Amino acid sequence: MNVKQFRYSSDNLAYVIYGKESAAAVDGGAVDDILSFVEKSGLTLKYVSNTHSHYDHIIGNKDLLKRSGARFLDNQTLRNNGFFDVDGENVFVYHTPGHMDDCVIFKAGDTLITGDTLFIGTVGNCFSGDLKGFYESIKLISTFPPETTIYPGHDYVRESLVYARSIEPDNKDILRFLEKYDPSHVFSTLADEMKINFYLRFNDDRIINMLQQKGVPVGTEYERWLGLMKEF
Ligand SMILES: [Fe+2]
Repeated sequence: MNVKQFRYSSDNLAYVIYGKESAAAVDGGAVDDILSFVEKSGLTLKYVSNTHSHYDHIIGNKDLLKRSGARFLDNQTLRNNGFFDVDGENVFVYHTPGHMDDCVIFKAGDTLITGDTLFIGTVGNCFSGDLKGFYESIKLISTFPPETTIYPGHDYVRESLVYARSIEPDNKDILRFLEKYDPSHVFSTLADEMKINFYLRFNDDRIINMLQQKGVPVGTEYERWLGLMKEF
């Protein structure tokens, strides 16, 4: 099973999960590029789906469905079933509330499509107000193997890492990541995120010290997460 990334509307990222015969589009706003890829590769677009219901992520659905004959997998169906298949291989769906209540992430092989839950170097805004849910979603993501590829819903790499550097000027991993960053293929790994994304590092001594200096309670992991989300 493969995953291909497509860029649209300046920083949005769409994905096609595909095997030898069929494919599924996730947040498929790059409609023309996706359809021409599917056609050139001799694939049938079987499903259209989304990581969440924000307008910029669902913008391509109507056109893709009309022009391909694919079936729409709505949020409730995804969450009820927990998976769908592409050429007999399962793509797993996890409910990850926080950015919005309806957020899901997809696991296709060793790749996680994280939508606006986890970006490279940062996390999404907590528009739902559910910081506890968001914490649990981030904890869930951190249980996947370190080599897992992270494919986010937007390319916010430069601005996120400029901000991260302003907070942690001595973090050399941030500079290292920026040097290899390529806007034509935006990805990271969970291992990289654990080094450069301070929202995932609520158990890192440097981050805990920083929170303590701000007078944030740091007794529990959840308190530290809350501190990170509120102070930064
Ligand atoms: Fe969003």
